[in-house]
Amino acid sequence: MIDTFPAHSPLPLVLTGFMGAGKTSVGQAVAAKLARDFVDIDVAIEEEEGMSVSKIFETRGEAYFRARETEWCARLALRDHLVIATGGGALVNPSNRARFKDAFVVCLDAAPDEIYKRLKGQGNRPLLASPNPQQRIAELMSARRDAYAQIEWHLDTTGKSIDQVADEIVGYIKTHASRKL
Ligand code: S3P
Repeated sequence: MIDTFPAHSPLPLVLTGFMGAGKTSVGQAVAAKLARDFVDIDVAIEEEEGMSVSKIFETRGEAYFRARETEWCARLALRDHLVIATGGGALVNPSNRARFKDAFVVCLDAAPDEIYKRLKGQGNRPLLASPNPQQRIAELMSARRDAYAQIEWHLDTTGKSIDQVADEIVGYIKTHASRKL
């Protein structure tokens, strides 16, 4: 069933968090439940650049990708009624976080072991292309801990289904809608 609440609330709902936390799948499910459009920033960049994120990292470099990501944060922060999934590094940048200061931002968390299991064998995360991806996950998570901690609401997705997490988010924004959304 589509839950149109809160119909009066135009501000974006933004899902962020580490790679493999479920931002895209949960974002699609939440958007369907709220009858909102969904935008995945990685997909938007891939479509605009005509190549995959991995290929952008390889041919243009990470700094180029980060600049595109920053542009998309700026563009999407101005649009109403969206559910947005960022890439895992997008809101590590404080100026990108600042763009969404009036939005409802949720950081999806998951245990490092679960992240590893979810991403194992996918080969489409250039930052995890390492002989020891588990160590990379631990290092990157630790390097990003303080930045992710700036995000007001965290939701642990470990051991939960996509639908469960999506329902928790919809329930939470209903309760807190008067404040932000
Ligand atoms: C990145 C996460 C990826 C993608 C890029 C960099 C990161 O998105 O944006 O590979 O820095 O954490 P997902 O979090 O959707 O995997």
